[in-house]
Amino acid sequence: MKNLTSLITSLIMIMVFLMTTGCFQGRPSSKEPIHLNPNMDHQEKYRPQAESNYFEDGATMRPIVEGTVARGQLKDDTQYYYGKDSEGNFIKTFPSQIELNMALLRRGQERFGIYCSPCHGAIGNGRGIVVEKGMVPPPSFHSDSIRVYPTGRVFDVITNGIRNMPPYKYQIPENDRWAIIAYFKALQRSQNATLQDVPQSERGSL
Ligand code: HEC
Repeated sequence: MKNLTSLITSLIMIMVFLMTTGCFQGRPSSKEPIHLNPNMDHQEKYRPQAESNYFEDGATMRPIVEGTVARGQLKDDTQYYYGKDSEGNFIKTFPSQIELNMALLRRGQERFGIYCSPCHGAIGNGRGIVVEKGMVPPPSFHSDSIRVYPTGRVFDVITNGIRNMPPYKYQIPENDRWAIIAYFKALQRSQNATLQDVPQSERGSL
């Protein structure tokens, strides 16, 4: 029993000694802390946009090798990706993979509300909230000149912007641009509708 007590006492004394002196608390050290299980914490690697002394220009990010295309970025479908046919003319319809249906129109309406209505207004008359705050008003989508825009031309405006309008190619993926155009065309039609556009059965309710 006596032995056990003195053993515990010495252990406690050793621990107290180590705790007060062993860790050099509060004293800065230039040595790296001991890292018992390094896993893969420290690796030879570059992070994006980091500096490199391997390449001549000092950058880790490399330019695309001339004449090559990254996988999935060929974009050879000019109708879908640029709104143009193979001769470079704006297409007047929708690319074949775009199915015109109610779901697409709803998606277009939602995206139009987010990306276009702040400037162009919910009905595209060029009176969005940004205009109320002082921006020069964009043209109405219901003017004679814009009503005849082929779909491909609207695609081009959304993609690349035009004069005072910024481009939206980075914010809006292609599919959504086409959905917006479907809604855009529906909106134009709705604002210039005549009684003939209303189905016979519904005319009585007007
Ligand atoms: C930041 C405000 C802003 C947003 C957001 C915006 N536009 Fe515009 N848009 C403009 C302005 C300003 C013009 C007039 C450009 C000019 O003539 O300087 C314009 C012009 C246009 C035109 C007519 C182009 C022409 O040939 O004159 C179309 C079509 C159009 N926008 C479509 C859209 C669509 C579709 C969206 C949504 C994806 C959108 N815009 C989002 C500001 C905006």
